[in-house]
Amino acid sequence: MKGAAVVSSKYFTIAFLPKGSIWGTTNCSSAAMFIFRLKLFIWVLLSISYLAFFTSASLCKQFVQQTTKQFEQETDRFWEFQEQSNRWVEVKLPFDLVSCVNDNCNKVGLIDQTKGTKEENLGNEKDASNQNNNNMKDGNIGRLDENSYANLPQRKRISLTKMSDTSIWVTGGSGSIYERFWNGVQWVIAPHDLHLSAGSAVSVLIVNQTILAISEEGNLYQMQLGDNSQPIWVEFKPAFNQSTNEEAEQSSVIQIKSSTVSYDGQRVYFCTKNGLLLELSEVEPPRWENHGRPPGADVAAIADAARIRAEVVYTISSVGDLYEYDKNSRPSWKKHLKSVDASKEGSLIPLMGCTVHGLIGDHSISLFLLTKGGKLVERRLYQRKWKWINHESPEDHHLTSITPLLEDEPNETFISLFLTTSTGSVFEYRIPNHSGTAQENQISVTWLNHMHPPNAKPARGIAGLRFQLGRTLFALDDGRLAELHMPNLGGENSGPTHQFNMRKKVSSKYVWSILDAPETEGWNAEYCTEERGPMNCIAGIKDESNNAGNTRSLTRRRKGNKAQQEYLSPSTSRSALAETSKEYSFPDNWTNTNFRLRMMQAGVSFFMVTDEGLTFEYLYTENVWLWLRHDHSTPMRGSLGNYNGSLFFVDIYGTLLIRERSGNDLAWINCTAMRKGTQVTAGPPWDGKLKVTAEDALFFVSKSGRLLQFTVALRKFKWKYCRNPPETKLACIIDQEIFRENIVFVVGRNGRLYQYNKVTELWHEHHQSQHLVLSRLPGTAIRPSFFSLTGSLFMLSEDGGLVEYHWNAWDGWIWVEHGTPCKDVNLVAPPGPFFKGNQLLLIGSDGNVYLRYMDQLTWRWKNCGSPHDRDKDTEDQTKMENPNYSNGNCDPKVASTRPIPLSENSAIFELRDGRLAEIREVQDKQWVWIRIIGTPTSTCTASYWIALAS
Ligand SMILES: *[C@@H]1O[C@H](CO)[C@@H](O)[C@H](O)[C@H]1NC(C)=O
Ligand SMILES: *[C@@H]1O[C@H](CO)[C@@H](O)[C@H](O)[C@H]1NC(C)=O
Ligand SMILES: *[C@@H]1O[C@H](CO)[C@@H](O)[C@H](O)[C@H]1NC(C)=O
Ligand SMILES: *[C@@H]1O[C@H](CO)[C@@H](O)[C@H](O)[C@H]1NC(C)=O
Ligand SMILES: *[C@@H]1O[C@H](CO)[C@@H](O)[C@H](O)[C@H]1NC(C)=O
Repeated sequence: MKGAAVVSSKYFTIAFLPKGSIWGTTNCSSAAMFIFRLKLFIWVLLSISYLAFFTSASLCKQFVQQTTKQFEQETDRFWEFQEQSNRWVEVKLPFDLVSCVNDNCNKVGLIDQTKGTKEENLGNEKDASNQNNNNMKDGNIGRLDENSYANLPQRKRISLTKMSDTSIWVTGGSGSIYERFWNGVQWVIAPHDLHLSAGSAVSVLIVNQTILAISEEGNLYQMQLGDNSQPIWVEFKPAFNQSTNEEAEQSSVIQIKSSTVSYDGQRVYFCTKNGLLLELSEVEPPRWENHGRPPGADVAAIADAARIRAEVVYTISSVGDLYEYDKNSRPSWKKHLKSVDASKEGSLIPLMGCTVHGLIGDHSISLFLLTKGGKLVERRLYQRKWKWINHESPEDHHLTSITPLLEDEPNETFISLFLTTSTGSVFEYRIPNHSGTAQENQISVTWLNHMHPPNAKPARGIAGLRFQLGRTLFALDDGRLAELHMPNLGGENSGPTHQFNMRKKVSSKYVWSILDAPETEGWNAEYCTEERGPMNCIAGIKDESNNAGNTRSLTRRRKGNKAQQEYLSPSTSRSALAETSKEYSFPDNWTNTNFRLRMMQAGVSFFMVTDEGLTFEYLYTENVWLWLRHDHSTPMRGSLGNYNGSLFFVDIYGTLLIRERSGNDLAWINCTAMRKGTQVTAGPPWDGKLKVTAEDALFFVSKSGRLLQFTVALRKFKWKYCRNPPETKLACIIDQEIFRENIVFVVGRNGRLYQYNKVTELWHEHHQSQHLVLSRLPGTAIRPSFFSLTGSLFMLSEDGGLVEYHWNAWDGWIWVEHGTPCKDVNLVAPPGPFFKGNQLLLIGSDGNVYLRYMDQLTWRWKNCGSPHDRDKDTEDQTKMENPNYSNGNCDPKVASTRPIPLSENSAIFELRDGRLAEIREVQDKQWVWIRIIGTPTSTCTASYWIALAS
């Protein structure tokens, strides 16, 4: 590095930089000019700092002499001159002012903290009271049963739509659209997301051969083939004939809420956000009709779309009344009588009902609906009379959705309705079918509880999808899917089935299979590919059996199910019962050692926060490396994040601050001062390549050990509490969204791994041996390709060994223990940066850096030493300060500060004497210490450049 030339010049410099010339693009015209200005400003700063020292000294003197006089303390920062180290050291408050005359010392005053501290305490209380609420809500570990019957939240955006036996379309909680497609060999997942500006999708409908999607904003999109025959979504606006529609002028602001394709598959009925019923009878050219709304009411849902009678639509209003719309009769809208139970509980939930013909005799029609009280009711037309029939609900269960029957559900001895409950169970309701083939309808149970898959619950209020006879799909509350099916018929590896034995239906117990969802929902299903093979999006080709292992095969899918179950709900895990809240206490320097360094811009700039709380930037500009000081009113503790050119810092009070450019100046923004803001101790260890979305957020850990989400997208700053797993507080974040989009991996203070899903807001625990206790340190995530979900989290165990948590499509999740580099050396700092997908740098207790690397499918250790023994790597010594430069304060062993990458092949470590050192890969897996960087606070340093960022 050419910059080393400056470092080796033997004088001490402090300078101001011209305003606006630093950080990011520099506008200094030439290097010479730049140095000139630096020199020019030396005097200015030196005199100012001298003045500052002088005034505070005189302030104390005044204080000592006139203790009765009131004065207002405006700062929390005071320094004391330490003779041993020959430097100024910041004092801890409260600080006794002592006057010594001939070794006779008296306390003459006290410096205490100013308002900052008080607010900190307030913040703590706030945190603590939230914590209490939190505990109450989560329930404690003794009350598992209560927890498993807790009501689930109502999920938005989730829907399931069947296009054919081989294609199911899903909208996920994140607003994504994906298709589950049987390519002849296996089920694959194809992404069909709306474009970013269209926002989130809430449902998909398929009419004739046209695919339409409804967005959360209420717009309609049609899938068309683009130029390169890639499907694209094109907006499809409802348009009405002026003459025939009174409310036509509203068409420009029509926002669609939901849709239903008519029973004959020819038309689509829509329900708008303002309660209108629309009909689309032709797509090409579009033919829209607006049927308006029932008098004095609205249309909140379509209960039946022409299945009861052709061209007649049944709707439910938001108040909960049933209406019938027949455009060929006058009046067109008819209101049905209230249900048996006239109270509010008895009014209807606006949802799609389930229509059955001939249930109690020829020509009978039954429309099954749910009430707000969670009961099943039937509106029955028999012998020209409408009647309400109350079917109640299984005891203590509140029904929230009905799964519509298949269009060609055969007439059998009984009809099965599948219903989900508010607590996430699935019940089957068996209704004897009088027109069926069996003589006598002796059904012993009417309500059959199919419960839920292990460790997962069907989402509340989302209708299941009858996909084939005996196979029903449900959206799970955690964002995945599940199939309820007969053993040996259905499940993850089973394609569409065509033979179905009706007799089995009565006798068989159903079983659950969990189907993984794509990464948009935080889960592990990889998208299909264009390559030939079993994962092809159109036609799968079976693996050649002798080539096992290299391509994704069906065989692993069989193993797959075990892996799925390794996601545990935290409150039901074994550790919850075993672990009592053994409080883990953090060393004082925890935040500082783990967040001392942060890369700002690769190869150009990084930040360092010193023990004393000063913030420096090391910047390469105009061919020179120099230190810039970023002053702040309170001492800093670390740098917790970097988003889009803004750095996030935490001060000693836990205040989260943004440092960013604002016009020509650099500004500090206090995030803790924002609504719901609180104090933090940790943030994401690494800054991922966040794809810019309107939901970008950084995650932090609060002082009380909870996870906080701070939305940063579009500068619409917003705090959100994400709580913590019920049995433990958080220690820190292992990884935010580098390994899995929408997933934050954390380690609890109990040393166990948890994950938080940003979409579902749920916590999960991972299967982890009771003997493995993780250290309470950040981790490193590695994912070699964005097209594959394969990758690992690297962490340390409590006893200083390296631990890997790996995922691949064949095995699912696996733990790998790598141990320590050698017998007497364990690892002392969080795993360092990862390079090229197979090289990880780590710090040993002996002060050396170790490389863990993959060499032809085998992991190996390599000792990279410390700058101390760099004589081995002979490169020109002149570029580096003499590592053993001796003023007695030097120790070029590597300190246990978390290192950072500087560029794609180099990293920065801190040395025990406070200096920094750069290590670089000069040849394949050959890491060499290339320079030592003097720092403004190291007592070993001979010289350095420093400037003040303004
Ligand atoms: C709308 O108007 C066009 C001509 O102006 C006519 O051909 C069409 O049938 C009308 N559609 C409806 C639904 O009335
Ligand atoms: C679907 O196809 C039928 C028959 O071709 C046609 O009559 C109907 O208008 C189409 N529906 C839509 C919504 O395009
Ligand atoms: C069941 O049988 C009844 C009476 O025979 C008939 O009206 C009805 O359409 C049948 N339902 C189905 C789905 O086939
Ligand atoms: C930031 O705001 C918080 C809360 O209002 C306050 O306690 C703290 O002192 C502020 N810190 C700084 C450095 O402005
Ligand atoms: C942090 O403090 C502990 C003792 O409290 C000390 O052993 C350790 O070396 C410190 N870490 C660093 C990086 O200074």
